[in-house]
Amino acid sequence: MLKNSLIVGSIALVVAVSSCSSKQDFVKNDFDVAEKQYDLMLKQSTDLTSFPRTTNADGSVKGTDIWDWTQGFFPGGLWYIYEYSQDPKWKAAAEKWTEALEEAKFLTQHHDVGFVMYCSYGNAVRLETDTAKINKYNKILIQSAESALTRYYDNVGLIKSWNDKMSWDGKTLWKYPVIIDNMMNLELLFYVSKLTGDPKYRNVAISHADKTMKNHFRGDYSTYHVVDYDAKTGEVLHQQTNQGYADNSTWSRGQGWAMYGYTLMYRETKDPKYLEHAKKVSDFFINHPNLPKDKIPYWDFNVEQAGYTPDWDYKGQNKLNYIPRDASAGSLAASALLELSTYVDGAEKEKYFRTAEEMLESLSSKEYLADPGTNSGFILKHSVGSFPHNNEIDVPLIYADYYFLEALLRYNKLKESK
Ligand code: GLY
Repeated sequence: MLKNSLIVGSIALVVAVSSCSSKQDFVKNDFDVAEKQYDLMLKQSTDLTSFPRTTNADGSVKGTDIWDWTQGFFPGGLWYIYEYSQDPKWKAAAEKWTEALEEAKFLTQHHDVGFVMYCSYGNAVRLETDTAKINKYNKILIQSAESALTRYYDNVGLIKSWNDKMSWDGKTLWKYPVIIDNMMNLELLFYVSKLTGDPKYRNVAISHADKTMKNHFRGDYSTYHVVDYDAKTGEVLHQQTNQGYADNSTWSRGQGWAMYGYTLMYRETKDPKYLEHAKKVSDFFINHPNLPKDKIPYWDFNVEQAGYTPDWDYKGQNKLNYIPRDASAGSLAASALLELSTYVDGAEKEKYFRTAEEMLESLSSKEYLADPGTNSGFILKHSVGSFPHNNEIDVPLIYADYYFLEALLRYNKLKESK
């Protein structure tokens, strides 16, 4: 009897150990692929004014200049590869691409300065050891936060995302649109308040998060993409979409931005209301009946469902006989869930960690992970930029790669600490 139970116990241990090591193996394999892919990317992308974003129809890399919203992700991804590999060649590449972004510290024509500068320079100050460089980068981050504040107006209490923009139905000219994505710009503001000792940046972040919590969520904790405000009174004028399927639908990446945004709000403030909110918006995502088995969402949770009517020509425009997934929403959500799992205990911790793990396992499979030498040097396949704009549909996107690498690092650290 004792012998039998020893044998059973040993088998169970071997299975547990091998399944644990196979889980961590996907991290190693993914970073091997990432190194090969970004080696290729660096060979193809030698123009430091063109930051890799996606592919052109001919398979070449499509870049953006420093005034868009995605240009911080390639430098940031290089920093993450350096963090994992500790190979100085990745640090050199990361520094070069980060420093090429410096002028974007003056980006004020839209809200994305936080995304751009914190994914690049934020990682640089975290991983750099040269004091002179850290000081230089910190000055750049302070200017970036000043740029972000130029779009904040007290009457409304939120950072304005875009300047005037027409809604899809052509009936509404948004004058003070705020999009859920904007939550991602707040991390920069917390950092700069800590750096300077000046609470003004942090206060703006808190006001922004509180007003967004009030106006961007439906009763079931799903998100509106766009909320437009009256610039004088701060009153909500419209709750609509720009990149989602319909005004009342839930754009998957937007929900992911909310999960990440309120998790970071809890990290920075320790105010339990943000933790509660992060859990609720995450539960909406992970419990949604339309979330596929592999846990990588369709580009919107409500595509082609009864009760959701697009204001744009979905039928005329849709050339696909399938609904594409959005790997960027999956990688972003996985990264958010991993951090969220560290702020809760017991069954909740297990739920968020395990869901993120399943997402990462899916993204590490052949379905999403590029074969080295393919996919124009990007790491992940199958993301969607904006379906309504007929732009970047089922393609690689640099921010899918960025949040994938971040999630892998978070996962690895959590596994090691277990
Ligand atoms: N922040 C723009 C997007 O998520 O597409």
